[in-house]
Amino acid sequence: MAEQLGDLTRTHTCGALRPDDVGADVVLLGWVHRVRDLGGLLFIDVRDRSGVTQVVFENDDEALMAKAKRLRSEYVIGIAGRVQRRSAETVNAKLPTGEVEVVVRSLVLLNEAKTPAFPIADDSPVSEDVRLKYRYLDLRRPRLQGNVILRHKVTSAIRRYFDEHDFIEVETPILTKSTPEGARDYLVPSRVHAGEFFALPQSPQLFKQILMVAGLDRYVQICKCFRDEDLRADRQPEFTQVDVEMSFARPETIFGMIEPLMHRIFAVIGKTIQTPFRRMSYAEAMATYGSDKPDLRCGMPIQDLREIFRDTPFRVFREIVGGGGTVRGFVVPNAGGWSRSEVDGIVDQAKQMGAAGLIWARRAEDGTITSSIMKALGEEGVRQMLDTATCGNGELLLVAAGQPDPTSKLLGQLRLMLAKQKGMLDPEQYAFLWVVDFPLLEWDPEDKRFVAMHHPFTSPRDEDMALLETDPGAARAKAYDLVLNGSEIGGGSIRIHDSAMQSRIFSLLNISPEEAKLRFGFFLEALEYGTPPHGGIALGLDRIVAILANEGSIREVIAFPKTAAAVDLMSDAPSAVDPRQLRDLHLSIRPGRE
Ligand code: AMO
Repeated sequence: MAEQLGDLTRTHTCGALRPDDVGADVVLLGWVHRVRDLGGLLFIDVRDRSGVTQVVFENDDEALMAKAKRLRSEYVIGIAGRVQRRSAETVNAKLPTGEVEVVVRSLVLLNEAKTPAFPIADDSPVSEDVRLKYRYLDLRRPRLQGNVILRHKVTSAIRRYFDEHDFIEVETPILTKSTPEGARDYLVPSRVHAGEFFALPQSPQLFKQILMVAGLDRYVQICKCFRDEDLRADRQPEFTQVDVEMSFARPETIFGMIEPLMHRIFAVIGKTIQTPFRRMSYAEAMATYGSDKPDLRCGMPIQDLREIFRDTPFRVFREIVGGGGTVRGFVVPNAGGWSRSEVDGIVDQAKQMGAAGLIWARRAEDGTITSSIMKALGEEGVRQMLDTATCGNGELLLVAAGQPDPTSKLLGQLRLMLAKQKGMLDPEQYAFLWVVDFPLLEWDPEDKRFVAMHHPFTSPRDEDMALLETDPGAARAKAYDLVLNGSEIGGGSIRIHDSAMQSRIFSLLNISPEEAKLRFGFFLEALEYGTPPHGGIALGLDRIVAILANEGSIREVIAFPKTAAAVDLMSDAPSAVDPRQLRDLHLSIRPGRE
């Protein structure tokens, strides 16, 4: 039977008591964390968000002892008692409260608890589905409590920073019109307007630009965005952005505002990061790391080895190079001792990733050369290849050939896989970079048209404007991504602020004036009322906090995340609705739906 709180008032949290408090009468409220029954003495660890305190029931009060013996894990209790110093041999140095304990005078049982689906008191492994179903229990455990509190500290630091820099936080609508960020929309049917739908925002992109038209000058919002896309460890259907827009901004203005912000964010976990961040063009990132979000912690740049294969006796490579293809490779350090079957395993993995083949060559610690193409190339040819790639003793060279883009991408994936497998990615190292000069457009071979690589409101670079007429695919954008340890933690651009240029881009994207008017008419009209040059960025808050917390998935830093199948296992959403609700919304479900 649960008792009432009555006039029981907490004097201290469960993480607060120290030797200075010895002799004080205190009231603690919290959960039964652990019970240790020594017969004549009963010890309970009482827990709340701030920590754990040991309380002691002594045998001299039989009624009190009998009541205490009924306590089980996760019962909610209140105790009143006196703080005493623990004897030297019972001090728990691991607990901040470990030098003291509370001798209980009275106990209130505020609530009982069913046996939890998993223990709260330790971080023993539990399947993620069970953790998500009982999220309120998971959130009691130290790992998630720590992550939720860390996230709060990060958002507080972010808000303080932007306030100090004269940014205004403005809330933008959740029930809105589709914003083209490249994913599917979540739609909300309108009851009042039959057959019409709101879209949940994929980002506040158009609203923040309109706020610049409105003269707000500096906008920030920590906001939810919704995207119906395939989920991964770093993607959720609803996620949080730190959304920023500035008037009269150049890319440098944005970098100059975001770099010190990252400083502040990392100070939350006591880390000092190096600024300014490195800048790298999209073209260099793709060629050298096979990715537009390279992880720079592990070195191993991809090199162009084409020239040495132009006149090689190795026919396959000679033909690829002759046909306009490429030969690229990278050097893996500390690989001298890998067994032959380990190296063959890498070749197999490359094939599973879609490689037609992967060539290797190696210098053992003593300089002995071996290679999978020793016969075809001869020892001198292999030595020359190793020299060109500066592959030293104890190092392994991996080489692939084919079309430039897929070859680099494949080597990029392989590089990352090996770095992970071989523990080359130090979680304590923070390798930031700005990837800049993205192409403005991407060719969509299915639809046979250009699509915007960032979004259609991104400005081309001034010096590439002429290319829009002659070679639009080669035009670069004033767009940038912020990358940290191989994760894209932010993306933004300088926008088009001129409605004529905006219409020109729409026509390049094959969006007719009618369609543009229907989808973004309000926005295009706003651009005609004196729009300042402007630009901005959105940071992925979930991804940043996951890196700070050293978690592999953003689900670990979101209080109530969805599974990879986009369901909430705790509330069981999405779920069927009452037929009356469907009728009100003028909807019917087709029978036999998948
Ligand atoms: P973008 O689409 O690049 O830009 O998104 C910005 C950042 O948000 C994070 N992110 C995600 N995080 C978790 N789950 C997802 N599904 C997800 N999708 C994106 C990433 C990404 O870098 N309106 C533009 C910004 C701008 O131009 O100012 C935008 O939304 O970290």
